[in-house]
Amino acid sequence: ASLADLDAGVPAPNRVQDRAETPRPSSAEFFANTPDTDPALPANRAWGRDILARIPGSELGNDIVEASRVADVDQLNGIVDTALEAGRAWGALSGAERAAVLHRAGATLESRRAELMEVMAAETGKTLDQGDPEVSEAIDFAHFYAERAKDLDTVDGATFVPAKLTVVTPPWNFPVAIPAGSTLSALAAGSAVVIKPATQARRSGSVMVQALWDAGVPREVLALVQLEERGLGQALVSHPAVDRVILTGGYETAELFRSFRTDLPLLAETSGKNAIIVTPSADLDLAAKDVVQSAFGHAGQKCSAASLVVMVGSLAQSARFHNQLLDAARSMVVGYPETATSQMGPIIEPAAGKLHRALTTLDAGESWAIEPKQLDATGRLWSPGVRTGVADGSEFHLTEYFGPVLGVMEAETLEDAIAMVNRIDYGLTSGLHSLDSAEIGLWLDTIQAGNLYVNRGITGAIVQRQPFGGWKKSAVGAGTKAGGPNYLVGLGNWEPAVSTA
Ligand code: ALA
Repeated sequence: ASLADLDAGVPAPNRVQDRAETPRPSSAEFFANTPDTDPALPANRAWGRDILARIPGSELGNDIVEASRVADVDQLNGIVDTALEAGRAWGALSGAERAAVLHRAGATLESRRAELMEVMAAETGKTLDQGDPEVSEAIDFAHFYAERAKDLDTVDGATFVPAKLTVVTPPWNFPVAIPAGSTLSALAAGSAVVIKPATQARRSGSVMVQALWDAGVPREVLALVQLEERGLGQALVSHPAVDRVILTGGYETAELFRSFRTDLPLLAETSGKNAIIVTPSADLDLAAKDVVQSAFGHAGQKCSAASLVVMVGSLAQSARFHNQLLDAARSMVVGYPETATSQMGPIIEPAAGKLHRALTTLDAGESWAIEPKQLDATGRLWSPGVRTGVADGSEFHLTEYFGPVLGVMEAETLEDAIAMVNRIDYGLTSGLHSLDSAEIGLWLDTIQAGNLYVNRGITGAIVQRQPFGGWKKSAVGAGTKAGGPNYLVGLGNWEPAVSTA
């Protein structure tokens, strides 16, 4: 609806439905990202309220999960054989033919936007404001990899030979976008796929897969499995016919996969311990907002989340910035996703282990600027925590937690702050808030992370604009970035042109 329509009292169309019908302007030269649902339109707010009402008691995805249970190795091997066989015809299609199916998948994902948001909220606690852009990202992956598939067949005279069978093992924290992106990339590159959604998010992954089947991806080419026995994961990953594994998960999981099979062709996006550095030159209003959103969005359970803020020089003593940051953190409305006002939902499971310790226990020199509180008996709902005085080299400095707790560090100079961040083993995302071009240049030249954000939050990479991938222990075996121009290249092998001279 145009503003003029709204002024004239014309009811706004439900853009969520209309969008699926809209031809996409994307082409090989230009990629249009999918817009999120605009809450300014009354129809979209009504649409959102309907989703909220369905979250408690939602059964979405249960039937697909039931149908995809795998009980033993024989059954698993049968699925692998079928996928290999069906994958031959899929791999023999031209890139343009596969692209047509993937573009349809973009449309079927769009038509299931409400379902995907409902099942993510019901199953994992993801609030709708986080779920909506996640669905947009999944749709972006479909259209983006579709276009990349078209120019994959031959590059500089070498011929692309797709992997035959790709195993996809996604995480629970982005239970739609990451499984979708991994699966769609492998399909675009001409491989059959066996996907095993994360146990905590199997319904969300299953509804996503259903959308791809609806689009015409054959069920044999895209096999969905829920593994009932622990040993079946190892059997799948170490199956000799598997020639790619796309893992998004902890660094230890990547190591475990490699222990199953030393020659494993692995593309793994792994852990992060991410920091935002703020210098005295920064736009402090913007910095406080971006730090809080990056730290507490989805209750801090993003591999990309800010777990540390490093205040440089005089900023460390600035009551103004401290207060802004703490006020913004205290203002977060915590609650289950079915409550419309919730800004920060529950964590995936009752806090335990190192996360429970990070939410409840301080180390030497630290104090709570905001002490996290367990808000109900489930152990899943916590208010945001901010700990100050985090020391260089301390446990909190160096450990990934995946929860709603932010550590404040102080550094005398920007160089010191960069050195502190670079001491972390991981290098996934990193942020700088500064309005000084010399500071920005220094940081860009020396910070060690795969995804760098200046004067922006450090979560929510946008397909094509901000290809996503880590450095150091945040990536294992992966050479290229998801949502970037070269990702498909790693999903097959190149056969050089035969010289006839
Ligand atoms: N791609 C996700 C983000 O950027 C992990 O937040």
